[in-house]
Amino acid sequence: MRISVIGCGYLGAVHAACMAKLGHDVVGIDVDQRKVELLEAGEAPFFEPGLPELLAEVRATGRLRFSTDMAQAATADVHFLCVGTPQVHGEFRADLTYVESAFAALQPHLKPGDVVAGKSTVPVGTAEALAARLDGTGAVLVWNPEFLREGFAVKDTLHPDRLVYGLPTDDDGEPTAVGVAAREVLDEVYATPLADRTPLVVTDYATAQLVKVAANSFLATKISFINAMAELCEATGADVTRLADAIGYDARIGRRFLNAGLGFGGGCLPKDIRAFMARAGELGVSDALSFLREVDSINMRRRVRMVDLAREVCHGSIVGRRVAVLGASFKPDSDDVRDSPALSVAAQMQLQGAHVTVTDPQGIVNARAKWPDLRFADTALEAAEDADVVLLATEWTEYRDLEPHKLGEVVAHRRILDGRNVLDPRVWRAAGWTYRALGRP
Ligand code: UDX
Repeated sequence: MRISVIGCGYLGAVHAACMAKLGHDVVGIDVDQRKVELLEAGEAPFFEPGLPELLAEVRATGRLRFSTDMAQAATADVHFLCVGTPQVHGEFRADLTYVESAFAALQPHLKPGDVVAGKSTVPVGTAEALAARLDGTGAVLVWNPEFLREGFAVKDTLHPDRLVYGLPTDDDGEPTAVGVAAREVLDEVYATPLADRTPLVVTDYATAQLVKVAANSFLATKISFINAMAELCEATGADVTRLADAIGYDARIGRRFLNAGLGFGGGCLPKDIRAFMARAGELGVSDALSFLREVDSINMRRRVRMVDLAREVCHGSIVGRRVAVLGASFKPDSDDVRDSPALSVAAQMQLQGAHVTVTDPQGIVNARAKWPDLRFADTALEAAEDADVVLLATEWTEYRDLEPHKLGEVVAHRRILDGRNVLDPRVWRAAGWTYRALGRP
């Protein structure tokens, strides 16, 4: 298939490379010249495990190129919309500017029979509005949400848990003739994962758009549920990690996404639940999602609680104290610092008078751009030099594996805050550290 991918960020760059890997002829288009130049040179513009290798592999086949020129999309028959939908500053709703501009720029290059596949996470109703603009052009819109996780983006795209096609439907809810034709095109695009028996859900536009935000809301709720339990554990002396293990053995509950700690961040979960609430309000069903307000506030409370915990171990004040924060990215194996709990806590402590030094294996460049006032160090040992307290904020493997004696030699005080509940308290306490965590005695 001849494919264009509009928007080459965390989603689009990976999608473009994976489509080429599946054998398609792909052009990735982005307005950001620097990003396009890097991708054209075979370099990933952000950290994503496996992506540089994949880019090298598929670029060598000649099946993948990148451009800033939307006219290049005219050579393709299937167009994936992969642009971002960030939160509007100061509001809950999603900013659809990039979707709007990408769609408007693509439209003149569409021809009859083309399929436009929306992948961006959008408020329900967006697909219907975009589809209406294709009336009479012979091109058809499908909604095909993406569920990739940063850090596993290549694997999630090549071997997805499921595929969802939202097709245009008639009054009986059945796909229209053009919808059926578009489905055949998508089946060809995804022939390899479909042959691997990837489950496929074929549905209407509204359902397909809701699937994405419903999935992210569920995941956010699961994390906030266990973080609420962590608050109970703190009040009772219970251990939230053992609690999660025990309830997780119930197959109906499951252990995944029950890791208590600093909570969720990133470019998806926080803004998606807020945009979902905003959309529910517009639709007159805000009560249905009022629980997501609580999910959000439990999540934000964890960050405040961590600053309090730092104050507690520093005997009541962090003013003038040296704090080492291990981790800046919102989760390990990513350089993404969007709404990162680690950075948010680091910045709060700095604002409250602490001297904060942050380190991260991949996220320092992005973190520095966001919070230039923080100090940054290349390694955990450098960051921890003379520290009064060390906070493990993002669970990179190298921080999980830190050797307490070695780290103990460089700090001023052996105090560790385990923001992700990944260290063994017995080992750290045995090495003379004060160990504190969220939801653990
Ligand atoms: C998420 C969804 O998982 C993905 O399906 C969707 O397409 C995009 O949003 P991502 O943002 O890459 O993916 O990260 P994810 O792995 O879901 O983690 C989100 C946040 O939750 C991270 O900050 C992580 O540290 C936190 N988290 C995750 C927890 O605090 N506890 C957990 O048990 C799991």
